[in-house]
Amino acid sequence: MSCNHTHDVLIIGSGAAGLSLALRLNSDLNIAIIAKRSIDEGSTYYAQGGISAVLDAHDSITSHIEDTLIAGAGLCDEKTVRIVVERGPENIDQLLNLGVKFTRSKEGNDPNQLHLTREGGHSHRRVIHAADATGRAVQLSLQDQVKARQNITLYENHNAIDLILDKKKQGKKRCVGAYILNTEKDRVETFSARTVALATGGASKVYLYTSNPDVSTGDGIAMAWRAGCRVANMEFIQFHPTCLYHPDARNYLITEAVRGEGGKLLLPDGSRFMDEFDERAELAPRDIVARAIDHEMKRLGADCLFLDISHKPKAFIIEHFPTIYERCLDFGIDITKEPIPVVPAAHYTCGGITTDQHAKTDITNLYAIGESAYTGLHGANRMASNSILECLVYAQMAAEDIESNIDTIALNNNLPPWDESRVTNSDEMVVVSHNWNELRHFMWDYVGIVRSNKRLQRAKRRVNLLRHEIGEYYGNFRVYNDLLELRNLVDVADLIIQSAQRRRESRGLHYNLDFPKRDDLHQRKPTILIPDNYFPG
Ligand code: FAD
Ligand code: SIN
Repeated sequence: MSCNHTHDVLIIGSGAAGLSLALRLNSDLNIAIIAKRSIDEGSTYYAQGGISAVLDAHDSITSHIEDTLIAGAGLCDEKTVRIVVERGPENIDQLLNLGVKFTRSKEGNDPNQLHLTREGGHSHRRVIHAADATGRAVQLSLQDQVKARQNITLYENHNAIDLILDKKKQGKKRCVGAYILNTEKDRVETFSARTVALATGGASKVYLYTSNPDVSTGDGIAMAWRAGCRVANMEFIQFHPTCLYHPDARNYLITEAVRGEGGKLLLPDGSRFMDEFDERAELAPRDIVARAIDHEMKRLGADCLFLDISHKPKAFIIEHFPTIYERCLDFGIDITKEPIPVVPAAHYTCGGITTDQHAKTDITNLYAIGESAYTGLHGANRMASNSILECLVYAQMAAEDIESNIDTIALNNNLPPWDESRVTNSDEMVVVSHNWNELRHFMWDYVGIVRSNKRLQRAKRRVNLLRHEIGEYYGNFRVYNDLLELRNLVDVADLIIQSAQRRRESRGLHYNLDFPKRDDLHQRKPTILIPDNYFPG
């Protein structure tokens, strides 16, 4: 039976990574972009602080590289860091050319000069931004361009389930497409393509509290792992220090730029505490700030701490943080007059699918870019605003590589259709919703900001049970969104726990009470997990 859809390039994900790749590719290519929900629903849209790049005469490539390496706590791949930092300015130019409206500086005589803000770990002002809603500005510009391109077909409300592989000689595999659930028509469709790129974002929804939107369920990482790709550094989950603490404020981030522009972290009695943890105080890298907040909350039994910018002039606050100002007012908090209640929450997946300098994975014709990929840029802790930069640069490099190969790749448009012959409709959806909650609770409690051997063992036992249960359920019932996401979350949780168990030290974002010190002699290397079906070469 023939395929439902055939394209040259199948891009799964419509955030900064996926859209940039589509726009970088030659307009002769027939491209599909898949989005699990609407095109704009991904972390990119919600990004606040900005994008880091060396744009100021007083700043330098060397300094951006050094800051990234320091934040990464000895685990960054230096070659990757150099490539990304060096390609930063040209990628910002590309966004400016696409019409992204970044905030301009009011200082100096040049009305076109960009305003640069500061965030943790950066020794210079180097974060370009669109007030406090940078992601929205970037996402909307990219998607407008994509929608105007005749060669790109957008499939919204399509949930990719698994990659389709073709076995070549001696067990080597190549990717030839994907099975994708069309959630509007409630049917699984077959997509065949010469080349497939995963741009599915991170996995922070595996935690109970997160700054991420609902789509961040690690689907691409889980799909690639099941297909036989290695994954790396999954223990390094970044917890953002400051998410709004309010019963009705789901997932709302308070950008690090608030601290960059002078915001202070306070205990419930109004005193500052960050300088006791690090000489950079509020502008220390995120791992340090999040751990300090967690420590103080546990010590005091406090539900939250506070972030205060109210000492700055009202006009300054509203100009720099208009979205946060409005959003907090909705919850009855006037940030120009009072401190903001904050707690840490899971924010960013530093690890992911292992890729090379061209964004290629272990499987031929399969690329991974953006937050779903592990490139070595972030090491043990991502520096603020380096993520969208990585999306842009690796989209550019993937596009260069795809274009140099695509003419040599034959299309296989005779792929087997999705087999539903042995499944029925689910009669117990409650199992899925219950397991979702259980997973996210124990990941928060046992595999969160502070870990221990015992907590990790407990989490591993529970995830094994869930994997078994979900595996059985998946084999017997027709697929739907929550089931697919839970299956991926359980796989990703298992990868996080396994990686955390292997790292017998504390470094960057991974802190284990039983190994509280950094061990550069034995542990200064990425954690690489290899699936049973991995075929090297
Ligand atoms: P995303 O933008 O998350 O997009 C993922 C896409 O994949 C979505 O289209 C989704 O629908 C699709 N998808 C996922 N699974 C499937 C599936 N199974 N089938 C089909 N489609 C699928 N970084 C910075 O550098 N600067 C910042 O200021 C900043 N602020 C942030 C603020 C917030 C609140 C958050 C959550 C993150 C922030 N980050 C920031 C991180 C950054 O936004 C993300 O790392 C980056 O945008 C990820 O882009 P992406 O394209 O890889 O993934
Ligand atoms: C923020 O604005 O604080 C988030 C920046 C980032 O995650 O890079």
